[in-house]
Amino acid sequence: MEEERGRILVVDDEPSIRDLVAFKLSDDGYECEKAGSAEEALTMVAQGHYDGILSDINMPGIDGVEMLRRIRMSDADVAVVMMTGAPDLSVALEAMRLGAYDFLSKPLNLDVLSLTVDRAVEKKVLVKQNREYQRNLESMVQERTQQLNQANDDLRNLFIGSIKALAQALEAKDRYTQGHSARVAEESVRIARYLSLSEDEIQNIWIAGFLHDIGKIGIQESVLNKPGRLDPDEWELVKQHPVFAARILEPIEELGDVIEMVRYHHEHFDGKGYPEGLAGADIPLGARILAVADCYDALTSERPYRGAVPEEEALKVFEDCSGTQFDPVIASAFLSCRRECSNGHPEPAPSFGTTPLHDARPAAAPATDA
Ligand SMILES: [Fe+2]
Ligand SMILES: [Fe+2]
Repeated sequence: MEEERGRILVVDDEPSIRDLVAFKLSDDGYECEKAGSAEEALTMVAQGHYDGILSDINMPGIDGVEMLRRIRMSDADVAVVMMTGAPDLSVALEAMRLGAYDFLSKPLNLDVLSLTVDRAVEKKVLVKQNREYQRNLESMVQERTQQLNQANDDLRNLFIGSIKALAQALEAKDRYTQGHSARVAEESVRIARYLSLSEDEIQNIWIAGFLHDIGKIGIQESVLNKPGRLDPDEWELVKQHPVFAARILEPIEELGDVIEMVRYHHEHFDGKGYPEGLAGADIPLGARILAVADCYDALTSERPYRGAVPEEEALKVFEDCSGTQFDPVIASAFLSCRRECSNGHPEPAPSFGTTPLHDARPAAAPATDA
């Protein structure tokens, strides 16, 4: 007797054949059970697990082919070999189509029987192993994808943290602009969302909002914190801050679009801004959005030489300067956003980077800040 190699169900309405087959397969090392009809076999299959089924085709009641069809609905893997005393090619083909491994003609050749059952069970084991391998592979891919996503999230959080840290570095130096970067970022995102820009563009605009004035790090504190108006030289220096910002950020390749937004956030739609006097669509869209958000925050923040401009008066500036200082489409989108906000229908808050650096409004700002 060989070591047990699997469970086989032998189905035949003729007891002598059933017993002979079971005897031979038991001798080959299989654990055999017997059923005298397809109905009995279906009950046994529903209750237990079999590696192989060896079944007669022609039986009273449900025949072997119908039994195979029903078994396949619940177990796609079990190895099935059919036996028939009246070889009929169409019946055999139907059995093969339903997933039978092979069929044997009666009277049975017991050596062929052993060989066929061995191969059928081996194939079933291989199919099962292959399926498990694929399942493992899928779960491994899923696990690795999760790890990659986590690593991406960590990197993104680190990146966002660095952006905020840079903005904080500026605000530690320029006491007049505390919270300005975060507010400009959030207002810019609100406008970008209103304009239905893509998530990538919105994310870049948010980053640009935080970094737009980072070039002021290159300007002396005595100028940045000067309570009165700047002299012409000081003003010329302050006007260089978008260029300084672009230089600071240039080593970070991923910030390509962001750098362009930052470099041109003081350009005017009519070409009268700085540093290059670009006009219209030559100014990157993100920069045109930043220009509006930046100006709004400057107007509605207190300055040493004036109080905060009231909301309606500030909004009037955007109506008046639409098409000159500001892109009319963006000015219009911004005005709609603000009016929805004041009517109690605020745009949803930006979905990322929503933690402001500082909630406090700036106490004051240099005369030329915009
Ligand atoms: Fe600026
Ligand atoms: Fe600014």
